[in-house]
Parts: sequence; structure tokens; C-alpha cells
Amino acid sequence: MSKARIAVLVSGGGTNLEALLNAQEAGKLPHGEIVLVCASNEGAYALERARNHGVPATVVARKAMSQSAFETALSIKLAAYRVDVIILAGFLSILSEEFVSRWPDRMINIHPSLIPAFCGKGMYGLRVHEAALERGVQITGATVHLVNEIPDGGRILLQKAVEVLPDDTPQTLQRRVMEQAEWVLLPQAAEMVCRELAERETP
Ligand code: GAR
Repeated sequence: MSKARIAVLVSGGGTNLEALLNAQEAGKLPHGEIVLVCASNEGAYALERARNHGVPATVVARKAMSQSAFETALSIKLAAYRVDVIILAGFLSILSEEFVSRWPDRMINIHPSLIPAFCGKGMYGLRVHEAALERGVQITGATVHLVNEIPDGGRILLQKAVEVLPDDTPQTLQRRVMEQAEWVLLPQAAEMVCRELAERETP
């Protein structure tokens, strides 16, 4: 395998997807290729970003289906695009343990805190930053990890600390964590995993 085929799964704005696409275009993802962007809802702006970069964008609507039908539909798309690696980039639909177990060391997630702080059930998006401010931490950050267990299990690939400032709101903190940590770490972690896979599968 020269390049691992990547699907990026999204649910919202897609700024992390944009960081991945920009990294790819800048030659910073030499062992991977983003072949599909898949959203769990058709209103996700991330779909627009994918199309702007000429990457196939599709929707598997979580709302319309049971968990198992959703995962079957998702698996069919992933197989059709011969996907090797999944990146969860702000993908807010829960995946079952059974689904996750079929992607050992091949599913990457980004979380906007320093795991094990502020993670687990109900901790996503702005809620993570609200919790960090409520607790009064002075340092937070982002974590990129392999998803081998639900919800935040698996090997930690990269972490980066970010300062919390006295006047922060959840929104200003979220923005700083994205700019200083998420958009930097996710492309680096994607390349790490794709390189490991490409090296393992090339005789
Ligand atoms: C990001 O901050 C990501 O870390 C978070 O959702 C946001 C998506 O933003 N993910 C989680 O909270 C997962 N538990 P984006 O759509 O602009 O990339």
C-alpha cells in the first residue's frame, strides 16, 4: 500500500476536515489520501468544504435509521470507497463497540481536551470547554487518539496543551484550542497512522 485511503466522518462545521484537506494539499499527508467525506446529517457545512476541495461528499443520515441500519449503510459506503482509515473529525454520532472493533488501529478521533480530563458520555463540542471553565483549570488542550474502545479508549497519539485565559468564554476557549492544538495535531496524527499502515502493508 503506498497511500492509505481515508474517510473523514463529520457532523458539523468541519474546520478539522479543512485542516486535513489543507495539509493534504500542502503535501503534509504523503502516506494518506482523503477519498471520502461522510456526514451524519445533510446540513453539515463540512460537506461544502469537501466539495470545494473536490473530494467526494456523502450523507448517511443518522436520524432516519436505527443504529444497526446506520452502521450498515456507513459500512457499505466505506467499502465502496475501499477505505483503510477512518478519521472522526467532529463526528457526533455514537458508533457501537461492534462497529469500532472492525477498525482496530484504523480509527482516529479528535477530542477537545487533555484526555482523561473532560471526556466520556455527553462530553463533546462546546460542552467540553464549558466543563473546563467551570472546573477552573488553567490548562486544557486537545487529544488525538485511536478509537479501540468506547467512548474515549485507545492509544493516545498526540496531545497539546493550551492556556485558559481569565476572560475566556466557552467560545473563545474552543477557538484557541482549535487554532493552537486541533488543527495542528489532527493532520500530524493522520500522517502517523497512515505511514504506519503503509509500512506494515508494503512487503
Ligand atoms: C471539534 O472541536 C472536535 O474536537 C469536537 O467537535 C468539534 C468539531 O468541530 N469533537 C468532539 O467533541 C468529540 N467528542 P469542526 O466540525 O469544526 O471540526
